[in-house]
Amino acid sequence: MKKWPPLHLLPPLLLTFFSLFSISTCTDTLPLNSSLTSNETLVSSGGVFTLGFFPTGSNQYLGIWYTEMVQQTIVWVANRDNPIPDSTGVLSLSSTGSNLQLQITSSNKVLWSTSISSNLVNPVAQLLDAGNFVLKENNTNNTVWQSFDHPTDTVLPGLKIGFVSGQYRNLVSWSGSDDPSSSNYTFKVDLSGFPEFFLWNGLQRVYRNGPWNGVQFSGEPEMESDSTFTFDYVSDQNETYYTYYANDSSIMSRLVLNHSSIQRYVSSGSSWTLYWTIPRDQCDSYDQCGPYALCSTNTSNIPDCDCLTGFVPKSEKDWDLRDTSAGCIRRVGLNCTGDGFITISNAKLPDTTNATVDTTIGLEECRNRCLMNCSCTGYANSDILNGGSGCVIWAGQLADLRQFSSGGQNFYYRVAGSEVPVTSSTSTGTKKKKNSSAMIALTVVLGLIILASVAYLIRRKLRKNHANVSYLQRQRQISFDSVRPLAPARDKGLEDGSSTDHGHDLSLPLFHSSVIAAATNNFALANKLGEGGFGTVFKGELEGGEIVAVKRLAKFSTQGTDEFKNEVILIAKLQHVNLVRLLGCCIEGEERMLVYEFMENKSLDTFIFSKAKSSQLNWLKRFEILKGVARGVLYLHEDSRLRIIHRDLKASNVLLDENMNPKISDFGVARIFGGDEKKSYTNRVVGTYGYMSPEYAMDGVFSVKSDVFSFGVLLLEVINGKKNRGIFSVEPLLNLLSYSWTLWKDGKALELLDSSISGSSNDNLQIIRCVQVGLLCVQDRPEDRPHMSEAILMLNSPNANIPQPKQPGYFSDRVVSDMESSSSCTVFDTTVTIVEPR
Ligand SMILES: *[C@@H]1O[C@H](CO)[C@@H](O)[C@H](O)[C@H]1NC(C)=O
Ligand SMILES: *[C@@H]1O[C@H](CO)[C@@H](O)[C@H](O)[C@H]1NC(C)=O
Ligand SMILES: *[C@@H]1O[C@H](CO)[C@@H](O)[C@H](O)[C@H]1NC(C)=O
Ligand SMILES: *[C@@H]1O[C@H](CO)[C@@H](O)[C@H](O)[C@H]1NC(C)=O
Ligand SMILES: *[C@@H]1O[C@H](CO)[C@@H](O)[C@H](O)[C@H]1NC(C)=O
Ligand SMILES: *[C@@H]1O[C@H](CO)[C@@H](O)[C@H](O)[C@H]1NC(C)=O
Ligand SMILES: *[C@@H]1O[C@H](CO)[C@@H](O)[C@H](O)[C@H]1NC(C)=O
Ligand SMILES: *[C@@H]1O[C@H](CO)[C@@H](O)[C@H](O)[C@H]1NC(C)=O
Ligand SMILES: *[C@@H]1O[C@H](CO)[C@@H](O)[C@H](O)[C@H]1NC(C)=O
Ligand SMILES: *[C@@H]1O[C@H](CO)[C@@H](O)[C@H](O)[C@H]1NC(C)=O
Ligand SMILES: *[C@@H]1O[C@H](CO)[C@@H](O)[C@H](O)[C@H]1NC(C)=O
Ligand SMILES: *[C@@H]1O[C@H](CO)[C@@H](O)[C@H](O)[C@H]1NC(C)=O
Repeated sequence: MKKWPPLHLLPPLLLTFFSLFSISTCTDTLPLNSSLTSNETLVSSGGVFTLGFFPTGSNQYLGIWYTEMVQQTIVWVANRDNPIPDSTGVLSLSSTGSNLQLQITSSNKVLWSTSISSNLVNPVAQLLDAGNFVLKENNTNNTVWQSFDHPTDTVLPGLKIGFVSGQYRNLVSWSGSDDPSSSNYTFKVDLSGFPEFFLWNGLQRVYRNGPWNGVQFSGEPEMESDSTFTFDYVSDQNETYYTYYANDSSIMSRLVLNHSSIQRYVSSGSSWTLYWTIPRDQCDSYDQCGPYALCSTNTSNIPDCDCLTGFVPKSEKDWDLRDTSAGCIRRVGLNCTGDGFITISNAKLPDTTNATVDTTIGLEECRNRCLMNCSCTGYANSDILNGGSGCVIWAGQLADLRQFSSGGQNFYYRVAGSEVPVTSSTSTGTKKKKNSSAMIALTVVLGLIILASVAYLIRRKLRKNHANVSYLQRQRQISFDSVRPLAPARDKGLEDGSSTDHGHDLSLPLFHSSVIAAATNNFALANKLGEGGFGTVFKGELEGGEIVAVKRLAKFSTQGTDEFKNEVILIAKLQHVNLVRLLGCCIEGEERMLVYEFMENKSLDTFIFSKAKSSQLNWLKRFEILKGVARGVLYLHEDSRLRIIHRDLKASNVLLDENMNPKISDFGVARIFGGDEKKSYTNRVVGTYGYMSPEYAMDGVFSVKSDVFSFGVLLLEVINGKKNRGIFSVEPLLNLLSYSWTLWKDGKALELLDSSISGSSNDNLQIIRCVQVGLLCVQDRPEDRPHMSEAILMLNSPNANIPQPKQPGYFSDRVVSDMESSSSCTVFDTTVTIVEPR
């Protein structure tokens, strides 16, 4: 393009035809009753932009360009599709209708007008330094028209493209390098679904920018590292637009739709530098690989189409010939209930035209929502800032997916459960991730997969054991005095050497295995009471007729004999009214056994989860039990000589004596198996699904706060009388925690109370407080949960200032229990152990 001479230096021409004043040199304003002829220009006050007439071929156009650029760079054209055929064009601001008008004097034809219908008071037209030509009322500065509302092919800083004030603001490229007329290439937002900008060739989509993900357009990961510009994206029910600002005002920049490319140019002088351009490769061609395929380019710039994991080419033959338009199809059809997800990292999200967005929920709930809706094919965060938030859900085909080597975000697509890979969580190998949030997301996904496996195995195990009716029941019956002192020797059963070794200061009887074998009728199945994470419990009758519970520990403890003995002796010294008493132990070869007192009323679960017996525990009793359990846990955590994290607190581990006083069992056993409590990571996760805190189950991180979580679950179970793992509502699908939270949010906490017991209205405040404490205990983040001492304080004092709970962890456990996957897990009844490699 030819450089246009600074015409404002030429003598002005007075137009008598319109009897208007013609403006003279260097001004940025066109006042009322004045005009601009083709030999005149307006120059913005800082001199950055010039408005005037420019010729291409035999035509002239009214436009705005950079004043100083060596190569004239037109950023706006008024009459792009209505060229001035000669040089008689005049821009005028007349009082009639207060409009800016472009006319040709030769034929008195109006070629372009601002079409304002209202009459303005003292209107002026002004060219601003931003490159915006505005028509305003001079007295009020009220802008009634601006060229920024009518972009041609260029976005300048501050110009909003998209949909603003009920109008689309699109970019349409020039038809040729010297032809500003509208081409068929349009950059336009598609407001349906989750809004996205598309480059269109006529009605055909050529390129997709991807939805805005809070940082950048999903298809433009290079925007992220851009510190030169600040991007602004707004999308609400009224408008959706994108704009940007240059941080350094001395840098000029523009975004231009040049033929079929979107290019960003920057300049700090008199020539331009191409900053970036898109589409950048063939993978950017819309739907290059067809549905359900992933496009990735390598250095040779050849598009590499791969079916998503779990999918196969629809037509193998065409695919081999690189005709990928038909895309891929599922290898195994979806089965609404047994499906799982596969993650694609660094993804450009698939076409969101038919997607739905909910910015109010997080990833986990998003997943649930997707899993619950059989037509959902994938989901992702709508915003990747701060670890991710919001939810996009796809229904139907997944089109135009690509994977970047960096940037992008995690996308989760649905496949049949059997297609979920056991180890890998990404479909096309794990690429290097710079992004720490991607790493976190990956960890969470891995955690979910592991959890899912656990849940699935438990479910399978439970189903398998369904016939064995008494299997889950712990029939701990008491037949001997629970307050008897610990010390007296049971001569018959004592191991001679050891008794002198440890002498009277130990007070811990050691039993011969033969004695225990006799007491339990050689560990007869008939005497088996239950099985837990740490071993099997048998009922036994000692020679004197005393009935005891014998726990035969599983053999995965790595402790040596002395270590074990010391550990047990330490534990035996723990004495609290809310802990089951350890009476002795047996160590012989590989055999490790613990002998406990027997409890008459079995365990708490046999009451609260039983239709027949739940009414025996009224609210007051339940409240007392909860407080007792809390005191027991507090003793373990803080008051005993050892700091003990129970790690398997649950209703079946709370035993009840003849007065319904709760006593925690299995305490300290976690210590034997877990070793040093100061170490907060474990490779072996021991616990019961439904009671395990998220950080423990997923990452093996345990602390006193993991026990607090379990206590919270127990508390809510005791209030409600149903297991956490039960289903409380199908639509939406809720477990106890999410159900409690939903009721709490709606101010209906009292409805959580077990319907088989009727609390008197006096108890209402107490019940509500308990629900609140329960929810606090099951908060997702350990630091949001109270310490046991605080929990007790809150339970006990009606006037305590209790914080408001947030949404609990494991908002629903349905997600994971729905996913089929295998994993090397050892399952002991309802307690599970996962050995994870680290
Ligand atoms: C517009 O208002 C400014 C002051 O705000 C004044 O200096 C200028 O002369 C006015 N221009 C016209 C055309 O009225
Ligand atoms: C503009 O022109 C109209 C009629 O030609 C006249 O009535 C009006 O006073 C003029 N306004 C100014 C500000 O010159
Ligand atoms: C503009 O100026 C040129 C001389 O530079 C002159 O030939 C031409 O007639 C002028 N055009 C108009 C419309 O006044
Ligand atoms: C209009 O804007 C100009 C420049 O920003 C300012 O100087 C002037 O005071 C404003 N006038 C009114 C009426 O607001
Ligand atoms: C634009 O599209 C129309 C109709 O599809 C076609 O006739 C015309 O040739 C196209 N123009 C260009 C420059 O491709
Ligand atoms: C650019 O400006 C934004 C807001 O004005 C600021 O947050 C950001 O840090 C700036 N970036 C650089 C590199 O100066
Ligand atoms: C959308 O526009 C309506 C009417 O102008 C207004 O009431 C509403 O607040 C706007 N909504 C948003 C999110 O801006
Ligand atoms: C369009 O792109 C070509 C090459 O990519 C470049 O030479 C030309 O200057 C660009 N046009 C504009 C208006 O930026
Ligand atoms: C790039 O892709 C082509 C075609 O898929 C393949 O032949 C080539 O090996 C790839 N190169 C690299 C470096 O991955
Ligand atoms: C779907 O799941 C049900 C029950 O889990 C099973 O009976 C059925 O065979 C499954 N169908 C497919 C197509 O996998
Ligand atoms: C499932 O998703 C589809 C598509 O997004 C939607 O139309 C439908 O209402 C959803 N069904 C339910 C039960 O949410
Ligand atoms: C969105 O839905 C429309 C209408 O059902 C369909 O024609 C179109 O292909 C869908 N787009 C995508 C990307 O799935």
